[in-house]
Amino acid sequence: MITRAIITGTGHCVPDRVVTNNDLAKIMDTSDEWIQQRSGIRERRHIEDGLAPSDLGAKAALNALEAAKLTPKDIDLLLVTTLSSEHTFPGTAAFIQRKLGMQGIPAMDLRAQCSGFLYGLATADAFIKSGSYGRVLLVSAEVHSRALDFSDRGRDTAVLFGDGAGAVILEPSPNPERGIMSIKLHSDGDFAEKLWVEYPSMAQTPHVTPEIVREGGVYPKMDGKFVFKHAVTRLPEVVSEVLESLHLKPQDIDHWLFHQANLRINERVAATLGVSVEKCPYNIDRYGNCSSASIPILLDEQVRAGNIKPWKLICSAAFGSGFTWGGAVIRW
Ligand code: COA
Repeated sequence: MITRAIITGTGHCVPDRVVTNNDLAKIMDTSDEWIQQRSGIRERRHIEDGLAPSDLGAKAALNALEAAKLTPKDIDLLLVTTLSSEHTFPGTAAFIQRKLGMQGIPAMDLRAQCSGFLYGLATADAFIKSGSYGRVLLVSAEVHSRALDFSDRGRDTAVLFGDGAGAVILEPSPNPERGIMSIKLHSDGDFAEKLWVEYPSMAQTPHVTPEIVREGGVYPKMDGKFVFKHAVTRLPEVVSEVLESLHLKPQDIDHWLFHQANLRINERVAATLGVSVEKCPYNIDRYGNCSSASIPILLDEQVRAGNIKPWKLICSAAFGSGFTWGGAVIRW
């Protein structure tokens, strides 16, 4: 009999500080109309001074543990996904582990940018299926706001991203028909520079200079149109692949949880798949793009609202820097 991994608890944490499009329009040449039209974003959260990504991650994790009726001591493996690591090293996992008092168990960061949660889910699933670890805590924690260019130069990216964390607990499913049914992952490093932060870079001597900082080399750079085109192609592809692996059709899916990069991307993908937008909940209007944390935050909101019932089928898909992309089907 197959041992599947099942999600037994979800949690999230976003900072209290709300930053509206009009707030950004006071500090750079942008407008609420431009941002809403292009992305669907109305506001996002920015972390308060004195807090770190691991604070958001630890809070999300505690919420997920509580939902699963577990304590940090019950966990066998901590996985953290992030593109905004608290420090260059060690990974954010070390700081979350310390805050949760889970010292001793393996803890590691996984870097797959906006597809990170799905890569994390696949990793947790593989460890559980192999019998290596029983209970896995998967945390996706992102703080973008401290490394965005809030001058006119950075307006194409600074308006899109927000801070937040989501977490899930995974355990062996007591029922082989429920849990993670299939995950398909892809990446293509040919496009690494289409959405990236170039510096600090261990490929350069020195790895960063005052000039690089002045010229904005430490901020995200994105070829927005190029990313958009690839996202609206790769997402339907990977969704079809993961559905076909289970002999399912888009119509069989009850809930679509897409990465929250851009409402227009998700509307286009839903139209390509012939899926009604009513089945595609979103939170990008309130949180912007929280990279790997977007999907687990959305999942937790939907679970806590009582919208996702046992046995329902969820399909989740993400696309991001790398490029990386993936799709997953979960029977709740
Ligand atoms: N406010 C106002 N104007 C802005 C702006 C902002 N925040 N950012 C860019 N502009 C300007 C540009 O300078 C450009 O001006 P120009 O025509 O005078 O040169 C104009 O708006 C149009 O920019 P353009 O890049 O053509 O817009 P777009 O329709 O491609 O939309 C994105 C831009 C970023 C919203 C869109 O390309 C996108 O969503 N891409 C995918 C991003 C993504 O998903 N990234 C994360 C993947 S995980």
